[in-house]
Order: sequence, then structure tokens, then C-alpha cells
Amino acid sequence: MSVEPNPGIVALSPYVGGDATLAADDALTLVRMMSNENPYGCSEAVKHAFRDMSSHFEVYPSSSHGPLRQAIGEVHGLSPDRIVCGNGSDNLIHMIAQAYLQPGDEVLYTKHGFLVYPIATQASGGVPIPVEETADFHPDFHALLKSVTPKTKIVFLANPNNPTGTYTSYADLLAFREKLRSDILLVVDSAYAEYVEAADYDAGVRLADAFDNVVMIRTFSKAYGLAGLRLGWGYAAPDIVQTLEKTREPFNLNIVAQVCGEVAVRDQAFVTLSRQNNTRVRTWLAGELEKRGYSVVPSEANFLLWHVGPGAKEMYDHLCHHSVYIRRVKAYHLPDHLRITIGTQAQCQRFLDVLSLKKQ
Ligand SMILES: Cc1ncc(COP(=O)(O)O)c(C=O)c1O
Repeated sequence: MSVEPNPGIVALSPYVGGDATLAADDALTLVRMMSNENPYGCSEAVKHAFRDMSSHFEVYPSSSHGPLRQAIGEVHGLSPDRIVCGNGSDNLIHMIAQAYLQPGDEVLYTKHGFLVYPIATQASGGVPIPVEETADFHPDFHALLKSVTPKTKIVFLANPNNPTGTYTSYADLLAFREKLRSDILLVVDSAYAEYVEAADYDAGVRLADAFDNVVMIRTFSKAYGLAGLRLGWGYAAPDIVQTLEKTREPFNLNIVAQVCGEVAVRDQAFVTLSRQNNTRVRTWLAGELEKRGYSVVPSEANFLLWHVGPGAKEMYDHLCHHSVYIRRVKAYHLPDHLRITIGTQAQCQRFLDVLSLKKQ
């Protein structure tokens, strides 16, 4: 007789990320625009902090993340007691699912929503329910509300969403929360918040302040350029934070991530520069693709969802063949699209040059 894993795990298809072995060592020839990483690296202050770190790796890291939560709180004007840190925001998504789901509980997310939501849901015995979006790739709040059943427990919404790049205004999110049953947890995943320029956007702080059934989650993997360190944080009402603290592994953040995260969050000049560069290059690249007859979905994030058509796989192969790596989004039910992370202007120019080599 074999040992059976829980049924949710048996049914899971594991998340497949961009290939990390396509490292930047080959930077001259290789264009890495597939994982929504920061093409400008990270803050110089973080690099210094890393070099200056004592090498006492025999000592356990802080399990309370006190100085890091303090720094995040100071920079964002939030109480550190309402902050919980994760080994990447993926870790927080799993912690939320583990803490709140019982077998059979339903979890709503948008059809083209981030793939870790259904994975974390199933791993905790929940039932993921993808909900259709509007034709322009926004959450369809009417459809989401119609999909609510007595078993609904969590709604995951990425804002902006990956891989569409679309965002929801604070007013629309507020209206949705008000109509949603109060025993349903709304998770606002703002992994790309630092890139957003739209004036009517709120990353989730206002909503988490106004409701005790909202969690905002954030990451250092994108605008901070620290994907390799694995660091995310959440902000919610004290009850939720205390619940998540119960499921959190005590040493889920290593020493390097904690020290570097603290320095990174205090260097908002780096984040501003990343946002400005991203907006400039994204606007230019979208224009260049449109000049070539393609459409892209308007994006507030550090990537563009590019409509290629039935030849998307062939286009992807052509780009890979020339060492330009972007992302297929077939797993997101978007077989005719490709997702392009906004690289530096030079990387995006290389992408366009390779694109023009493609025979129609
Ligand atoms: C919407 C969204 N949420 C969360 C994550 C996870 O980020 P991390 O675990 O690196 O913090 C990603 C990563 O791509 C994402 O796109």
C-alpha cells in the first residue's frame, strides 16, 4: 500500500516559472524578459549592506522580523503590528490559503489571474473557481459576485493583474468589497503596485484600513529587484495578522533577506527610478509594437500582454532561437498572447530587432 498525499495535492499541476538558469552572465547576447524582474537590478545601498553583512550565519535569523516590519511601517506610514512577512508573496498566498480554507471551500479568482492562487487553494483542500473577465481583461465584478456561493471563503485579486497588466481603481474595489459577504476574505495582491502611475489607484492600504476582512500583499521581487532573496509582506487587521502568524514558519525569512529588505525599503529613490524607467520604456515599446500592427493590453505593470495571434508559439520559438526570452501564457488560457517583461531600452530594442527578422 502506498502513502497517499492529500487529494488536493494529487490533483495539482506545479507552477512552472521562467528558467532561472538563463542567467544574466550572458548579458551581451541573452535578453531575459520573461519573469517580470527588474532589469536595473537592485539598489546600490542593498549591495553595500550585503557586502558589509557579518558572516555569522550560524545564528538564527529574527523570527519576529521586527526591524524589517518597523522599516516597512515607517516608509509606508503603517503600524508594524499589522504587517506579516513572507518568503516571497507566494509564501503569503499559501499561508492565507492554509489558514482560512477547509476542504470544499471555494476560492474565486479572475480567469487570467495569477496561477499560484489555484495552486495554493488546491494544496489546502479548497476548490479554485476561475471567473470570466470583461472583454478588456478587467475583473468582471458582476460575474464575481454572481459566482459567490455559501461555500465561498476567499477572493484573490491581483491589482495590477499578472499577466494582463490591467488595474482596478480604488472606487471599483471599494464598491466590490462593500457588496461582498463579510465572512469572505478579499486578498488584494499588489505585487506590481510600485509601478502604477494611475491617480485613482490604491495598493490596498485604504481598503485594509477600512475593512477587517481584507489583506493586501506586496513583494520585493519586482520594483525592488530582489526576486532572488524571496521577500514579501502583507498588511491586514490585527486578527488576520495574528492568524497568519500561527501558520508562518518561525524562520521563514533568512538573515540576508531581512537585512537587505530593510535597506531596500528605505531607498525609495531607487523604486522611483525603476518606475520612471519602466513607464518610459513600456510606453515606447507599446508604441513600437502598435506601429508594427500588433495590439497590446494597456498596462500599469512592468510587462505587456502582446496579442500575437495563432502564431504565438512560433513567434516565441523564433525569439528564443535568437536568445530573446519572453513568456508564453498558454497556462493562463491565453494561447494567442505572449507576455513581455519591460527590459532596458537596449533589451527591448534587441527584442524588436529580432522580431523584424521574423518572416511573415
Ligand atoms: C501577481 C503576483 N503575485 C505574486 C507574485 C509572487 O511574487 P514573489 O513570490 O516573488 O513575491 C507574482 C510573481 O510573479 C505575481 O505576479
